[in-house]
Amino acid sequence: MQGNQVFIFDTTLRDGEQVPGCKLNTLEKVDLAKRLEDLGVDIIEAGFPISSPGDFESVNLISKTIKNATVCGLTRAVQKDIEVAGEALKYAKRPRIHTGIGTSDYHIKGKFNSNREDILQRAIQCVKWARNFTDDVEFYAEDAGRTEDEYLARVIEAVIKAGATTVNIPDTTGYCLPWQYGAKIAYLKNNVSNIEKAVISCHCHNDLGVATANAISGVINGARQIECTINGLGERAGNTSLEEVVMIIKQHKQLGFFTNIKTKQLNPLSRLVADTMRVPVQPNKAIVGANAFSHSSGIHQDGFLKDSSTYETINPDEVGADGSKIVLTARSGRSALAHRFQKIGFDFNRNDIDVLYESFLQLADKKKEVEEADLRNLAEQYQPAM
Ligand code: KIV
Ligand code: ZN
Repeated sequence: MQGNQVFIFDTTLRDGEQVPGCKLNTLEKVDLAKRLEDLGVDIIEAGFPISSPGDFESVNLISKTIKNATVCGLTRAVQKDIEVAGEALKYAKRPRIHTGIGTSDYHIKGKFNSNREDILQRAIQCVKWARNFTDDVEFYAEDAGRTEDEYLARVIEAVIKAGATTVNIPDTTGYCLPWQYGAKIAYLKNNVSNIEKAVISCHCHNDLGVATANAISGVINGARQIECTINGLGERAGNTSLEEVVMIIKQHKQLGFFTNIKTKQLNPLSRLVADTMRVPVQPNKAIVGANAFSHSSGIHQDGFLKDSSTYETINPDEVGADGSKIVLTARSGRSALAHRFQKIGFDFNRNDIDVLYESFLQLADKKKEVEEADLRNLAEQYQPAM
């Protein structure tokens, strides 16, 4: 099965923590790292060690604590960053240094006031520095999404030659469309002579809402690592969401890929991350949103109550969700009403439900949702015809 494993690289503690207001303290980070390891992620990006003493301490403590997953620290293509990351990771059983530089002309000119040749040399150099600390070196070509393919291929070939074992192709600005991102990965597969010596990684941002689609398109075209975060947290509009890519890979077995993620832990961990980082999950979020398994319109409810597979392709239990919910609103139908009455002990016949349904609709038109207490009132006030 090895060839088709997609490695899950979680960056909740690094890219996710860059979200304003999401700052975590060391104990929170260590606690989440343990949960990520239990979840089955292959690589935990624990932080950016040179960025602050607190982040150094977190990466250091996570390195001492985590035994199965690879622990990764981010750096710029700067010797001091790499030395500090090497020091922070020195107790890790499987340390990885994630180093790199911007390769698009926007970055080369706008950020570094430099040129392509100079950036190529700096890319090679940072990988060589990192190799002094670990054999597991990941190179990122920042803004690869907007980097010209031919130059990107030259950089990637050179950094693999210098010792990079994973090459990260970030769509840093979330600019690419899925077919474009997939074509970029395919181009590298076909034009980098030593590409089989490295794992290609997708790191997609969600500025156009297609981060998940881009990552999957990358995998279909030859990438075997996805960088992602719990709840899709990350800079600006966020990163690829871990729960989404994992469930796409699990649901679509015909694609031929698998991950090591224990999917029953997805919802509990999503809640823990939302609480710890104080960023609520949007209700309509796939897999982990409060409404991901709620049915509220009459047509859907009727079908679902007859056979759940009419409106659900994922069993909520498989992702650790609380279960499917039949929510009562003014769009709900009689079968949903009867079902909810039954759940609280009122077994009304068809005629009763027809009458009760009229009162229910009057109430539902005035409320966002009809709750259990409302149903009890309706049942108590109901006088069946003699
Ligand atoms: O989005 C990005 O390009 C990054 C890199 C630092 C990997 O987060
Ligand atoms: Zn990023």
